[in-house]
Amino acid sequence: MQIKSADAVSLTALVRRLSGISINPDNMGFLELRLSRRMRELQIRDFNGYRSILVGPDGTAEANHLVEMLATHTTSFFRENTHYEWMRAHGLPELFAAGAGKEYPLSLWSAACSLGSELWSAAMIVDQFAQERRGGVLWKATGTDISRRVLRRAASATFTEAELAGLPDDYRRRYMMRSRRSVANAEQALFRVVPELRSQTRFSSLNLIRPSPDFQLNADIIFLRNVLIYFEPADQIAALGTVLRRLRLGGFLMTGHSEALMETPKGMTQVAPSIYRKEGG
Ligand SMILES: C[S@@+](CC[C@H](N)C(=O)[O-])C[C@H]1O[C@@H](n2cnc3c(N)ncnc32)[C@H](O)[C@@H]1O
Repeated sequence: MQIKSADAVSLTALVRRLSGISINPDNMGFLELRLSRRMRELQIRDFNGYRSILVGPDGTAEANHLVEMLATHTTSFFRENTHYEWMRAHGLPELFAAGAGKEYPLSLWSAACSLGSELWSAAMIVDQFAQERRGGVLWKATGTDISRRVLRRAASATFTEAELAGLPDDYRRRYMMRSRRSVANAEQALFRVVPELRSQTRFSSLNLIRPSPDFQLNADIIFLRNVLIYFEPADQIAALGTVLRRLRLGGFLMTGHSEALMETPKGMTQVAPSIYRKEGG
């Protein structure tokens, strides 16, 4: 399957408009590979057929598929582990001392959560922190992503053996159980997050550059990691605005190590590499 460079330009512009994800239209090999997979699913032979779906009555739904196909969903447990170490040593004690977890539930948010590994890793740290405190810690966790396909997987809280790479053995024993559910006809063993963590956690769809006003949250810790790198500066600013409006005063924002912000956003103070605290509170 081959596409013309004018089609590559219009497809990548559509994806950017819908999601912020910026793809170089010259990257034809990548575009053709991902598109040919989708066209096989739809049993379409050439790009003209695909274009007619995009402009037809099912165009909106197909454009969402296109975004999902072209987005990168790579994630893993305890990825960029220094964030979790910092959270355990500094972030959680500080938030707890200020009342989070006692006067109101401490709220975690993974704002481009993919399969959920990032959110579950943070939830495990919070659960351990809670167990070390008499009286426990009230907490809840939210995962959001633009892709409904990865959200379905995230909400199932199931992982293959390969997807558990990075999860230390003691956490695996404590927080994972063998699952009887199957995902995408997977024949290998699946592991599921234990109910104590699942009951505190919800997943929902949210586009960081066009958030629904109905999505309300007052988060204490936000993970916005490995997603800004795919955006142009204007969309990075929009995505940052989306999360910072939902961060409580005194709360923390974590960005990916490779996407440390060029400028510390107004009203935020950098407290460690790629960790920012919202002033006040
Ligand atoms: C590389 S994964 C990062 C997962 C996780 N944060 C981590 O660091 O391991 C990027 C995720 O961002 C999501 N994404 C891309 N554009 C988005 C947008 N506009 N709004 C919300 N999520 C988006 C993708 O669907 C994908 O699951």
